[in-house]
Amino acid sequence: MILVTGGAGYIGSHVVRELADIGYSVLVLDNLSTGHLEAVDKRATFIMGDVGDSNVLESLFQSYSIQAVMHFAASCLVGESVEKPLKYYQNNVVNTIQLLNKMLEHNIKNFIFSSTCATYGVPNQVVIDEQLPLNPINPYGKSKLMIETVLNSISESHDFRYIALRYFNVAGAHISGEIGEDHDPETHLIPNILRHLQGKSSYIEIFGKDYQTPDGTCIRDYIHVMDLSSGHIQALQYLLQNPRRKIAEIFNLGNERGVSVLEMIHLCEQVAGAKARIKIQPRRKGDPPHLVASSQKIKSLLGWAPKYDIKISIETAWNWFKKHPNGYKQ
Ligand SMILES: NC(=O)c1ccc[n+]([C@@H]2O[C@H](COP(=O)([O-])OP(=O)(O)OC[C@H]3O[C@@H](n4cnc5c(N)ncnc54)[C@H](O)[C@@H]3O)[C@@H](O)[C@H]2O)c1
Repeated sequence: MILVTGGAGYIGSHVVRELADIGYSVLVLDNLSTGHLEAVDKRATFIMGDVGDSNVLESLFQSYSIQAVMHFAASCLVGESVEKPLKYYQNNVVNTIQLLNKMLEHNIKNFIFSSTCATYGVPNQVVIDEQLPLNPINPYGKSKLMIETVLNSISESHDFRYIALRYFNVAGAHISGEIGEDHDPETHLIPNILRHLQGKSSYIEIFGKDYQTPDGTCIRDYIHVMDLSSGHIQALQYLLQNPRRKIAEIFNLGNERGVSVLEMIHLCEQVAGAKARIKIQPRRKGDPPHLVASSQKIKSLLGWAPKYDIKISIETAWNWFKKHPNGYKQ
């Protein structure tokens, strides 16, 4: 059985569905702080509880035979992390250490961790590979880097193997249109543009149009949530198929293609068949002009390859929003 923490969230729910599709038994632990019960695949066993609750973890590790843990549960809003740093260190660091402690106590050796490109901070290189220095500039990115450090230490002292995946901007929805992104507040670009094009906001803000990029707006790398899921499945299989190998790996997961904010608005307009109203705002502090992944390492070591381009990310997200104008709420 695979334990997925945060399996009711955006990314976790897609991975749970893919795990179930290929025949894994899945246990989801989620406190529904930002997730949705409706997002959890019916084939999974759902446990409502907090990763920081050692009693819940103890009973779960005693009751189920768990081969691996995929840990998505976290607080994930960069801006909020600046205002409420302790919330982020508590949930993303302390609670994760609690989970790792219980795993070691119960001799569970395989761990997949949701890390982030925010660990790189503001790199002075356009294409980012895993060798670049790590210099996160907000508590969210710092909390994720702390856990990468913890994982590295325990893999040296214990029979414990992990893969940390540094995601770039995750986008799109399941091709079925049945699950997708439903965050409140929504801070991600594509859902905010599409919701604006559905008439749910009066304009779309661009933060800075004077960057040194071809159209002056920031460039980011977007990866479809189902490509991200397949990266997790390959990472899991690598751990499970090599039980005696020492594995302590960090991989970027991105599409290796940059899309500017303005380009994204135009692509969304084409998909939605509507025109956006744009408001130019000053730059936000700490926004790097250009963030594009090198995913060469995961491609060559695990043979992972993304299948979906940016157009499909937007089309699947649009399909999800059309079918679910209020997200998971009826
Ligand atoms: N969405 C992105 O673009 C992106 C990029 C990089 C990294 N990540 C990482 O991916 C992971 C998933 O992100 P997401 O976008 O799906 O977020 P999300 O908020 O949709 O999902 C997080 C889930 O974890 C649950 N959760 C949070 N704290 C918990 C706790 N203490 N106990 C139990 N459940 C808890 C929430 O209820 C939610 O269902 C996070 O770790 C995030 O940092 C996301």
